[in-house]
Amino acid sequence: MSDRKPVTLPDLAEMKAAGEPIVMVTAYDFPSARVAEEAGVDIVLVGDTAAMVVLGYPGTEPVSMDEMVMLGKAVRRGLKTPLMVGDMPMGSYEASNELAVQSAQRLVKETGCQAVKLEAGGASVERARAIVRAGIPVMGHVGLTPQTATALGGYKTQGKTAQGAIQLLEDALALESVGCFAIVFEAVPAAIAEAILEKLEVPSIGIGAGPATSGQVLVFHDLLGITTGRTPKFVKRYADVHGAMLAGLERYVEETRGHRFPEPGHLYSVEPAELSEFRRYVERKEGFASQRTWDWEPLP
Ligand code: KIV
Repeated sequence: MSDRKPVTLPDLAEMKAAGEPIVMVTAYDFPSARVAEEAGVDIVLVGDTAAMVVLGYPGTEPVSMDEMVMLGKAVRRGLKTPLMVGDMPMGSYEASNELAVQSAQRLVKETGCQAVKLEAGGASVERARAIVRAGIPVMGHVGLTPQTATALGGYKTQGKTAQGAIQLLEDALALESVGCFAIVFEAVPAAIAEAILEKLEVPSIGIGAGPATSGQVLVFHDLLGITTGRTPKFVKRYADVHGAMLAGLERYVEETRGHRFPEPGHLYSVEPAELSEFRRYVERKEGFASQRTWDWEPLP
């Protein structure tokens, strides 16, 4: 993958046109970015799912712009070729177009991401338009939008009724019309996504939206089995990294407690002559140490 060229927005449009699936994954730090780079993914999203999988919050709502910037900077250092997209955290864009542009500019300037993502249709369409006009590429996100999951009735599949599906289609078309270069569809019935995509020209990236989208995205920690417990239906686990980490740490604990670590191969050596000289010094020093009580005795 070392001769790979950086992925551009036209590349994504070409991939869609050629029917070549676009691979997107989240990353939140330097090592996860390196893995994404080495695996040859096309888009890396510094997702606000960091709130849950990295920072331990119960939802994505609490994560701040400062936290997203810190994570984004680390991801940037690990990436060369994938297009890097920064997620706009809740509260960083909804209130006004000015706030949305300022926040998008901060993400781009401070993390080096090449595009931003914001959630939902409705008022977000105007925010997306403003950011695009400010010269920053925007990725839309419709369907299950976790920042507003409570208003959607929880973490539920969206577009299951004809009315809900119409809303999804209208939101996606509106986001496309204001210049979004791609749109994420989350937790949408496959048949609804397929029908919507017939009307959409920009690339679509699915997460629980079936096989018809131009690409797929999964959360790094979910697909590699770093998160434990229940995951959404759309997650496929490609590894059990939590299991591997736990097994490794348990062995380390056991070997350290059993005096089996460190082993000879983990030790630094020293020239015997240097060691002898140092030992002589230590022996003399021990003598001094036994006299030290004298030194601390109060003077007569
Ligand atoms: O924050 C995130 O990880 C996302 C993906 C689930 C698309 O928005």
